[in-house]
Amino acid sequence: MNSAAGTSSGLPAPPATSGETGARAVRGTAFGHGKVILIGEHAVVYDQPALAAGLAMGVTAGATDGTGRLTIPAWDVTVTAGDESPVGRAFGALLARLEVGDVDVSVEAALPSRAGLGSSAALAIAVARAVALARGRDDETARAAAAAAETVFHGTASGIDLAAAASGAIGRFRRSEGWRELPVLQAMPLCVGLTGRPRDTRAQVEAVRRLRERTPAVTAVIEALGALVEPAEHALAVGDIDGLGRLFDVAHGLLAALRVSSPELDAMVHAARAAGAVGAKLTGAGGGGAVIALAPGHERDVLARWKSAGFEGFSTGIGGKLEWPL
Ligand code: PMV
Repeated sequence: MNSAAGTSSGLPAPPATSGETGARAVRGTAFGHGKVILIGEHAVVYDQPALAAGLAMGVTAGATDGTGRLTIPAWDVTVTAGDESPVGRAFGALLARLEVGDVDVSVEAALPSRAGLGSSAALAIAVARAVALARGRDDETARAAAAAAETVFHGTASGIDLAAAASGAIGRFRRSEGWRELPVLQAMPLCVGLTGRPRDTRAQVEAVRRLRERTPAVTAVIEALGALVEPAEHALAVGDIDGLGRLFDVAHGLLAALRVSSPELDAMVHAARAAGAVGAKLTGAGGGGAVIALAPGHERDVLARWKSAGFEGFSTGIGGKLEWPL
């Protein structure tokens, strides 16, 4: 029964299913946070620092005794470890790293997939931790297994998504230094807007790599993105929302210079500013995906402006208070 079930991230284990019904007991349950990158996407690939924040929404994985099946009803996904699908290959790599084969994992996803909100990293960390808890592996091994899955999804990912998915807090990440949680004076409401166009992280990272090779001056843009991190850290530490918003605007311009923005992303950023945001930028790999906007007191206006332009969005909180009802 459930008494042996482990949990991660402080979530209660779901009730174990009764043997009488024929269902299997959940052995391990874990949560992975969605995330937004506040400053430094793409530059972080080149060992510049970056800032990310965990979201309250994410995915919950439950591991039972089984034969290597993964089901995610919300995303219409059912795979077997090692099958030809990207999720099947990622799940196979994850289980291989944990040296486990005899589990099934069921996932509840409250995060849109491929929207630029870190769904693959949230999935990887939740599944890896659930299986690790079910089979007595340590958290370091679970993180390595999640990284193996992310490599299948994204090639050589910097690791920022996984660090934010595992932490749920605001942190600073640098490839050569890892993740460090940051002091934040006050939680901040944040508007998140969705273009509805799936983004392809691998393709976007590759496009920036080619641009940088052909145009060495682009290195200065990457360094300029990295230079925004220290003032952004200061803005968070003293609760300067306007200051952080201005840095969002600069970051969006620099990301556009790397050619990872799109007409939809630009339209959403401009709409947010017109509705009263103090700053807005694309978040994540770009091309499609999501934007974020800081609009203290104007969250409803931003969401309404996006809606009238045909884009969905929601308001959330970063830096401690993760739920932020309007
Ligand atoms: O997967 P996304 O959309 O959050 O993008 C990841 C961030 C990049 O900097 C573009 C890539 C990386 O590996 O850091």
